[in-house]
Amino acid sequence: MELFVSEGNPHCLKVLAALEVTGVQCSVQYVNHEERVVPFLSRPTLPALLLPTGLHLFSSNAICRYLFEVSGQECSEFCNQWLEWEATDLQPALLQALYMAVLQGKGSEVSTVLQGPLKFLDQSLSKGGMPYLTGEAVSVADVVLWAALYPVLSDSSQALGEHKSVNGWFDRVASIHSCLSAAQKVLQGKGLQGMKSYMQRQPAPQSSQGRNTQPCNCNPIEGEEGERAFSEEELEAAILNWSKGLSTSPLATDRQHPILPQEGKRNILVTSALPYVNNVPHLGNIIGCVLSADVFSRYGRLRGWNLLFVCGTDEYGTATENKAREEGLTPQLICDKYHAVHSSIYKWFQIDFDFFGRTTTEKQTEIAQDIFWRLHKNGFLVEDTVEQLRCEQCQRFLADRFVEGICPHCKYPEARGDQCDKCGRLINAVELREPQCKVCRQTPVIRSSKHLFLDLPKLETQLEQWLEKSTSTGDWTTNAKQITRSWLRDGLKPRCITRDLLWGTPVPHPDFKEKVFYVWFDAPIGYLSITANYTDEWEKWWKNPHQVELYNFMAKDNVPFHSVVFPCSLLGAQDNYTLVSHLVATEYLNYEDTKFSKSRGVGVFGDMAKDTGIPADVWRFYLLYVRPEGQDSAFSWADMALKNNSELLNNLGNFINRAGMFVTKFFEGYVPVMELQQEDKKLLALVGWELQQYIQLMDKVKIRDALKHILNISRHGNQYIQVNEPWKNIKGGDTERQRAGTVTGVSVNIACLLSVMLMPYMPEVSQTIRNQLNAPQSCVSTMLQDNGTFVCSLCAGHRIGTVSPLFQKLEADQIEALKKRFGGQQPEDEPSKEKTPQSTASTQPAAVPAPAAAVEVVTVNGVDPEKAKQLTQAVAEQGDKVRALKAQNAEKTVITAEVAKLLDLKKQLALAEGKSPEPAPQKGKKKK
Ligand code: MF3
Ligand code: ZN
Repeated sequence: MELFVSEGNPHCLKVLAALEVTGVQCSVQYVNHEERVVPFLSRPTLPALLLPTGLHLFSSNAICRYLFEVSGQECSEFCNQWLEWEATDLQPALLQALYMAVLQGKGSEVSTVLQGPLKFLDQSLSKGGMPYLTGEAVSVADVVLWAALYPVLSDSSQALGEHKSVNGWFDRVASIHSCLSAAQKVLQGKGLQGMKSYMQRQPAPQSSQGRNTQPCNCNPIEGEEGERAFSEEELEAAILNWSKGLSTSPLATDRQHPILPQEGKRNILVTSALPYVNNVPHLGNIIGCVLSADVFSRYGRLRGWNLLFVCGTDEYGTATENKAREEGLTPQLICDKYHAVHSSIYKWFQIDFDFFGRTTTEKQTEIAQDIFWRLHKNGFLVEDTVEQLRCEQCQRFLADRFVEGICPHCKYPEARGDQCDKCGRLINAVELREPQCKVCRQTPVIRSSKHLFLDLPKLETQLEQWLEKSTSTGDWTTNAKQITRSWLRDGLKPRCITRDLLWGTPVPHPDFKEKVFYVWFDAPIGYLSITANYTDEWEKWWKNPHQVELYNFMAKDNVPFHSVVFPCSLLGAQDNYTLVSHLVATEYLNYEDTKFSKSRGVGVFGDMAKDTGIPADVWRFYLLYVRPEGQDSAFSWADMALKNNSELLNNLGNFINRAGMFVTKFFEGYVPVMELQQEDKKLLALVGWELQQYIQLMDKVKIRDALKHILNISRHGNQYIQVNEPWKNIKGGDTERQRAGTVTGVSVNIACLLSVMLMPYMPEVSQTIRNQLNAPQSCVSTMLQDNGTFVCSLCAGHRIGTVSPLFQKLEADQIEALKKRFGGQQPEDEPSKEKTPQSTASTQPAAVPAPAAAVEVVTVNGVDPEKAKQLTQAVAEQGDKVRALKAQNAEKTVITAEVAKLLDLKKQLALAEGKSPEPAPQKGKKKK
């Protein structure tokens, strides 16, 4: 069990007290107030208890009750009634009291607010005549009520009047050491002030005298319009910041390569999971890995961290071999071709890698083999014999994807070597009935073959020790911790690290000459070798755990390899490697209501985004806005249009444009003199607060949550302009004109701040704003210093540039058309493979349908001239390909496969032309 709490949160005081009193075994994690621990809740909610079943409890009273029950103390009805009273009657009054005492400095009114509930409690206690609420012994009710009241009752400055029975009871519970120690942990000895930062995030409570009939909201959350109250000191601080102006030493913005760790700096190494080279990445891949890592890297550089961001294509493995066969190219040529495709997609999305490499390099071989030999020398590799299918005709062992047969469980005839698509069960290829080699359709034989295994059980203790430390000091996402924990819970087994394939890093051991490393052993080593291809001094990053913090970005399916398997390789190799400090994993992004699927032609793939006419920055914005942070999310065209039109156009863009236009139209392009009034000061404090939230969240890699604070700022700004109506004041007398000037000046400075905060998300828009405002470069570093400082960076007299609109409306019909184009569910049931090229024609050659897809076409009846045209073209191309292969004396199996494709295409063409197809030329082909 794991209990998530945050400092200064009064609800957390209750659960911690319950935990300490009951002594239940449970680890406690202190997290940020904004941490979204319970993945399916739309807002962060603390405390939260993760149960052994994987379920969560997130109401503080439910957690307390649960802890008592686990410790064998059932909650009586009487006890339950007290808990209910606490939640519905006491809490609303308490929250109001705390709000007044902590934020408004109105301590004197606290006793009025609490009078009713305290009186009720006092009478009940004295009537009952017992030391505790429900009897002679402490119950969960005592702990919950005591903890709830502790902050106010323990504060001596609160004159709460004489409630004799309450006071006696309160002291009795307080004498239980565990209660006081919990209070100490949550309030940190700061009393009421310890709750300040928590209370600032709460909406001002509705003033509620007497009985409150509203349902309890145990964890009130800031409402969109909730007014935040600032104390005088906070206003002062905001003005002080504002008038500090820009710092004189602007950060060096251009990077000097190679970037290497430096003494006395925060040295940050960022990686994003290496994308498989053989696929064009879809939007889900992009947001999960490279885009998230890019936003964080850009942010880190702005913060002045010494940061290196590396990535590259993951090029080895069966998928590449398959693709090569499909396209009739060598694996190396496939890699070259698709590496370029990846590069250009990421370039379009403005992913700012310091280096984008690949895994098929000499450095990879060198480093992978070195790690291998170290593991071998240190005794972490074991040998075992594995039974495998081998195709004698193709002269190769058949990896899972190369074999098909009848499922031993459900008799489905087209089960793959690893899994049956019909019944979903996992299969061991040797169990398949009537197995066939997918390439030549021959029946393979069973052969046994020796393999090497990484001895994970032997490394388990070391791994656990390291994990304990890394997950508690670093920022691991909740899913990353959970997935890792469940792997460990099931116990580690040795993992095979060798494969009988051609396309991989060769195993250097003489007994395993014909083999290569399994991709998942090899690929993460790519991070090291890619860095080695960037700089000869790569070890300064990778063998330097004390100076370097490593952030790994990925989607959740990659977690176990990064948190368990790869760290074990590095730990076992014993060469002082840098292991991951922060493992940042996203959930999945769906496409509309379904999954992205290349073969079904569903979804937007990286290379198609640019053909939509929607700018890269808008794509980035929307993907980051729906980043699956904490729970799965979906890309939706309608929603993208909505967010573009509401958030970008009407909110953000509108505000920035208005601010700039006022300067241009009313003040001839010069920022006017500002004389701050109370209202302006409040706005400065509010904007500063949003900026600080943004920084705190970004520091914790809560990229999606941080973005919301940017949009909050422009919302505040719009409201400020709306209320102050500079367009009216400018026509008034001196005072009014002065007011218009102040409002304009403050607004245009907020616009400048927004451009800075937007930099990691929308680099191009951000630069455009600063160009329009003619903003000094140093504004960027100044405002992101420390915890975020909102300074006046465009002073009175500053001349801005030419202002123009930043965003364009996305129209409904445009969106409809795009949705149709990428939806993959056109009514005519077109074969998807045929459709894709329309949108990707510019970057991707018309793909020759793979056999599986080609056969689906056969199901389409009737004449289709459009398709016939496409097929004629495809037949011609495939014919050329076969002739070329024959001319090159290519391998017989390769030619056979391509001929099969050609025959299939011809058959489809015949059908599309309304002729009768020739009989299927080969036995064993799929029939539908
Ligand atoms: N290619 C893998 C994928 O796309 C990720 C590899 S990450 C690395 O799922 F660690 F192996 F590099
Ligand atoms: Zn074969």
